Amino acid sequence: MGVFETVAIALWAMLPAYVPNNAAVLAGGGRPIDGGRTWNGRRVLGDGKTWRGTAVGTLVGAALGLVLNAVASNASDLLGVSLPTFPATVLLALPAGAMAGDIAASFLKRRTGRQRGAAFPGVDQLDFVVFALLFAFLAAPAWFGDVFTLPVVAVVVVVTPLLHLVTNAIAYALGLKDEPW
Ligand code: CTP
Ligand code: MG
Repeated sequence: MGVFETVAIALWAMLPAYVPNNAAVLAGGGRPIDGGRTWNGRRVLGDGKTWRGTAVGTLVGAALGLVLNAVASNASDLLGVSLPTFPATVLLALPAGAMAGDIAASFLKRRTGRQRGAAFPGVDQLDFVVFALLFAFLAAPAWFGDVFTLPVVAVVVVVTPLLHLVTNAIAYALGLKDEPW
């Protein structure tokens, strides 16, 4: 498999996991998931993880996956690359995993004394990737093995932090996000 094909498949397969966090930023607000509860004097998750943000993020990611499924064969012809379609379970697993990873990172941030919005380099950029991949693997192991080959996973791990930095910097510049990470 060539470099172009590897990168194209990596980005395509991860798109349903990339958009949930950005959708959550736009949709966030309302009741926090932890209901304001604390653990050892610190919030369990914090006000930055809400039911609405999580639900909308997951649904937007799944909806994007449906759109990608609909245009996969046209996009494959256009790019000259065999792009994968997503089984129903993966449509939900990728965005749900992305949201779960982000929530797990906030849990970790609060335990290590980081306030809401504090940066946690490395964790901020890869939390959602690790969980999205794990959820997708659990949802459809055979599909996962076909699509997420070692080179594809390598591209995902290298390119995702870069994309994350760029999109968050844009969201910050547009005033949608309080911090550029
Ligand atoms: N958001 C949400 N629900 C989620 C994730 C994000 O409502 N599950 C919204 C919140 O409004 C949040 C914003 O998106 O403030 C930015 O997300 P993020 O950077 O992940 O949260 P932070 O506020 O920075 O909080 P934390 O320190 O816990 O990451
Ligand atoms: Mg943040």
